[in-house]
Amino acid sequence: CGIVGYVGTQQATPVLLEGLTRLEHRGYDSAGVALLGSTGIKMAKRAGRVRDLAEGLPKRFAGKVGIGHTRWATHGPANDVNAHPHTDAKGLVAVVHNGIIDNAAALRQRLGDEGIDLVSDTDTEVLAHLVALSEAPTLEGKVVDALAAVEGTYGLAVVHADFPDRLVVARNGSPLLVGVGEKEMYIASDLAAIVRHTTTIAHLGDGEIATVTAGGFTTYGGDLRPVTRTAETVDVDPAAYEAGEHESFMHKEMLEQPAAAARVLSGRLDERFGTAHLGGLNMDARETRAIRRVKILGCGSAYYVGQMGAALVEELARIPADAEAASEFRYRDPVIEPDTLYVAVSQSGETIDTLLAVQEIRRKGGRVIGLVNVVGSAIARECEGGIYLHAGPEVAVASTKALTNMFLGFSLLALQLGRVRDLSIADGRRLINGLSRVPEQIQEILDREAEIAEVASQLAAAESLFFVGRVRGFPVAREGAQKFKEISYRHAEAYQTSELKHGPLALVSEQVPTVAIVPDDELTDRNVGALHEIAARRGPLVVITHEGVDLGEVEASPNFLARIDVPRNERELDPVLLVVPLQLLAFHAAMQLGHDIDKPRNLAKSVTVE
Ligand code: G6P
Repeated sequence: CGIVGYVGTQQATPVLLEGLTRLEHRGYDSAGVALLGSTGIKMAKRAGRVRDLAEGLPKRFAGKVGIGHTRWATHGPANDVNAHPHTDAKGLVAVVHNGIIDNAAALRQRLGDEGIDLVSDTDTEVLAHLVALSEAPTLEGKVVDALAAVEGTYGLAVVHADFPDRLVVARNGSPLLVGVGEKEMYIASDLAAIVRHTTTIAHLGDGEIATVTAGGFTTYGGDLRPVTRTAETVDVDPAAYEAGEHESFMHKEMLEQPAAAARVLSGRLDERFGTAHLGGLNMDARETRAIRRVKILGCGSAYYVGQMGAALVEELARIPADAEAASEFRYRDPVIEPDTLYVAVSQSGETIDTLLAVQEIRRKGGRVIGLVNVVGSAIARECEGGIYLHAGPEVAVASTKALTNMFLGFSLLALQLGRVRDLSIADGRRLINGLSRVPEQIQEILDREAEIAEVASQLAAAESLFFVGRVRGFPVAREGAQKFKEISYRHAEAYQTSELKHGPLALVSEQVPTVAIVPDDELTDRNVGALHEIAARRGPLVVITHEGVDLGEVEASPNFLARIDVPRNERELDPVLLVVPLQLLAFHAAMQLGHDIDKPRNLAKSVTVE
């Protein structure tokens, strides 16, 4: 979900609507705004996109103080009533909220017992009533009273008709920042919403609240004692948040991969000693050598790239490593070991499942580092050190450039862990050389977009597909299937190529294509063997491979669709190149099916609820 707010000398509505449009990737099933006008609070909200909200606004909808929200539904379906802002019975208070109120059911019951009718199914509505019920003389006091009753996570913004000069915001676990302008101030859950107006910002800390008026802002702790937060100017280019001439952010972000890849490697490769420099890890050589195991946690694409990262760590550093879905991890009461290095992977740095996994590890005394893109995000701050990904803002729900940079981040980590163990200087240099070739090799694949789009057109019609790979190639297949289903809405299932014959081969037919990852490595012959089994069942095939790999008779089989050769690099680094054609396949299949590439149905970019 996304929050934006404005207080100043201009009309708030255009600022709020523009901000919401910039935040839509975070949730796009409903949107709303509330203004403080001369006659109290005015509100407009509805299911659908921000443009639907804008079209339906009343003619006279004026006010210079306001808040807005775009929603990804959790409690209750996406309808007009459940859209934010939420208000109290008298319509004096309006609240927008990201996060989740864990004790909402109990609070609803309590309010019900006091004779208050709740109109929506949301957890947020209770906040509006609680603020209205407080007898504290100030709005800040009312918000503190309300939050005292609440358990859960929140980033929230409140306006009140009796305090028409201000917004009050609060944060606990869900990001909130204040932007400073000339006699005007902004608030947002994400810099993207306000970057065109200001880049001078202050982040609220967890447990803090702030009063924001046209003249400035004041921050407080939960007990209303002032806390000093100074706004700083961040070095970002507002253009990085625009799709520009591209038809979608996903397309733009795919094409940015060579430049993004160069950035994550920049200054971190040490040719002389064949190692990587990762100053942000905050670990000395003795601590690095003491690591006995590496455990990687992430969600969605970050989980799959975590599996690629685990393979790199095992291969290069010979440390046992594995990846697990962060969303599952803490629920199985994991054993936290002092000599394990835990690694949290997240583009946004605010995925709640990953954040909670980090907190669980730290509570039990484990050491966690982060591979995170958004600087200063919750996960980045919660970790003891880490590797920033420097991919630049990623807006499309389907991750591309952040994912490739995560892989490269893992390569650097594995290299550094390897070089204080058994990895030779020659191998270190071999990999450094390979890594420095990655940006231009990604470019070579991107240059063949038209050819790959042709292949995608042959897959788009299939109702169901397999993506298969082995060992290093298996997480690549998983990521390929994930992308395909996210944006093309086709059923795409990833399988180990070796396991096909143990079950799913039963489903292979002329109607069910397979995309096979067949790099030139120790397993090529075995992989080609499995392709024969697919071809013999008339299964259409697309093979992602390297030049010179002999696919034998498979290539002549009647339903063979295409081979896509990616450039050769060091075998350990193959996944980062094999994955790029899969992004293009998913993208072009979805384009041909006419889908909304950047806002696939039911999903959101940053999932800040469990
Ligand atoms: C959501 C997105 C996925 C993403 C995952 C992890 O589910 O839809 O595309 O991979 O979150 O996001 P993160 O920001 O933690 O990398």
